[in-house]
Amino acid sequence: MSPPKPLLELVNVSVSHGRVEALRQVSLSVGRGEIVALLGSNGAGKTTTLRSISGLLSLDTGDALFDGQSIRGKSPEEIARIGIAHVPEGRRIFPGLTVRENIMLGACNRKRPGRRALEAEADGMFELFPDIRSFATTLAWQLSGGQLQMVALARGLMARPRLLLLDEPSLGLAPLIIQKVFAAIEEIRKRGATILLVEQNANMALSVADRGYVLETGRLVLEGDARALAANEEVKAAYLGGRQEIASRES
Ligand SMILES: Nc1ncnc2c1ncn2[C@@H]1O[C@H](COP(=O)(O)OP(=O)(O)OP(=O)(O)O)[C@@H](O)[C@H]1O
Ligand SMILES: [Mg+2]
Repeated sequence: MSPPKPLLELVNVSVSHGRVEALRQVSLSVGRGEIVALLGSNGAGKTTTLRSISGLLSLDTGDALFDGQSIRGKSPEEIARIGIAHVPEGRRIFPGLTVRENIMLGACNRKRPGRRALEAEADGMFELFPDIRSFATTLAWQLSGGQLQMVALARGLMARPRLLLLDEPSLGLAPLIIQKVFAAIEEIRKRGATILLVEQNANMALSVADRGYVLETGRLVLEGDARALAANEEVKAAYLGGRQEIASRES
């Protein structure tokens, strides 16, 4: 079976932060309805990849295609409007707004219905995230990390994105909460979303992903079917529990 036609394609993308070359000739694709995992350790370039797609960083070389059209050089606002939502590393929730208000902000890329309709839609998100339902009118600073991650996911979904970019949704969360967050990600996909999932937690990411890529210091070093990657000895050694060993070999 041929792979589905990509919704997102990066072709030979290089990006730098000043003099630091963070991505070098990265090419990857995400098909409609797929969950694609982008794995790699600290500083590999995962966040840089997502920020380049959502227009927060500009490409030095290469191109980014969304639904076949180049989005290179477009502003973050334009990119949000065409249907790419970015749930950033560290969640970036407004602590002084309520949970419902934070979720509603996700719709700011859309032609908005009235406030009432938007509130109802935000409340609809609690079907997917029942754990935060009782906090709808609570100020966000009172929530735990796992609850904030759920708010961040719900806010991303309020954009009604065609592509959802998730940056380390498991970061800093306890194992039981990580399970819940990933169950929600699977449910989001069942409802028809396409997801590019950045993770250091390769085990969890590959358990929900269809395919995956591995970044190492700005270059893609491996790609393949999620199951094949999870069984790959190099991936297992580097990202599925044996990271210290690799680190000491490199130092
Ligand atoms: N604003 C910046 N200015 C300078 N260098 C940066 C900046 N942001 C990232 N870098 C560098 O670019 C490289 C890639 O960073 P990036 O944040 O994309 O990695 P990452 O894979 O997301 O890492 P982590 O798992 O720690 O989030 C690193 O060497 C990092 O130090
Ligand atoms: Mg990062």
